[in-house]
Amino acid sequence: MKKVLFLGDIVGRPGRTFLAERLVSLRRRHGIDVVVANAENAAGGSGLNARIANELTSIGVDAITLGDHTWDQKGFDREIAALDQVCRPANMPESCPGQTSLVVEKEGFRLGVFTVMGRIFMGANRCPFLVADRILEQLKTECDAILVEIHAEATSEKVAMGWHLDGRAAAVIGTHTHIPTGDARVLPKGTAYLTDAGMTGPYRSVLGREIQPVLERFLDGMPRRFDVASGDVRISGALIDMDETSGRSQAIELLTVCRDK
Ligand SMILES: [Fe+2]
Ligand SMILES: [Fe+2]
Repeated sequence: MKKVLFLGDIVGRPGRTFLAERLVSLRRRHGIDVVVANAENAAGGSGLNARIANELTSIGVDAITLGDHTWDQKGFDREIAALDQVCRPANMPESCPGQTSLVVEKEGFRLGVFTVMGRIFMGANRCPFLVADRILEQLKTECDAILVEIHAEATSEKVAMGWHLDGRAAAVIGTHTHIPTGDARVLPKGTAYLTDAGMTGPYRSVLGREIQPVLERFLDGMPRRFDVASGDVRISGALIDMDETSGRSQAIELLTVCRDK
C-alpha cells in the first residue's frame, strides 16, 4: 500500500510558509510516499514561477499541478518547459508550453499525475472527459497508479468525472473552488474521490483573499486590489491509500491541519 497526499491550491506566502513548516512532520506521521500539490495560486495568489516551484520541491512536494491561473505570472510560459516536476492542465490548447502529465517514481512506485479543467464557468477548454481517457491510456503502461485532478467550478462536472474514471484511475480529486468538501469516498470500482481538496492557505478570507475588498466589490461592483489574506492558515488535502498492484485505492480522507489551533 502506498500513501499519497494531494494538496489543494497553495495560496501565496501564507500557504507556502505553513506547508514548509509542517510537511516533513506530516510525511513522517502519516507515512506518506508521494506528495502532489496544486500550486496555481502559489505566487502572490495568482500563478506560479520557477523559483517558487523549486522552493516547493525543496520542502518535499514531489509533483506540482496547475489550473486556470497557470499563466498569471509574467514569463512563466518561458519557464515551465524546464520544470520537470510541473504539469499544466492537459486539456488546454495543445500549442501551450509545459508537460501535460507527470510520472513520479518513489522507491519503485510510479504514480502518474495529470489535471484536466472543467468547462462549466471555466472558458473554452477541450473536453476533459475525452482528454482524460486519452492520457490515462498513455500513462497506464508506464505507471502503477494514476491520480487525476479535475480543476473545475461545477460539482456536477467533478463528480461525473469521478464516475467516468471509476476503476481506471486510483484517484480523482477536485480543486479550484478552494472550499474542501465532505464527500471523500472510494467509488465502487476502487477510485478514491473527493469533490474539492480545499486550499492550503488562509481561511479567514474569501478564497484566500482579504475579505473586505472582495465584499466591497460585491456591494458596488467597483474594481479593487485583492491582496492575499493571512488569518487562519490551514493545509487542506486528500490522504489516499493506493494499492500499487491493482492501481486502485483502499481509502481516502480529507486531511486538514490548522495553524491557529
Ligand atoms: Fe485556485
Ligand atoms: Fe482555479
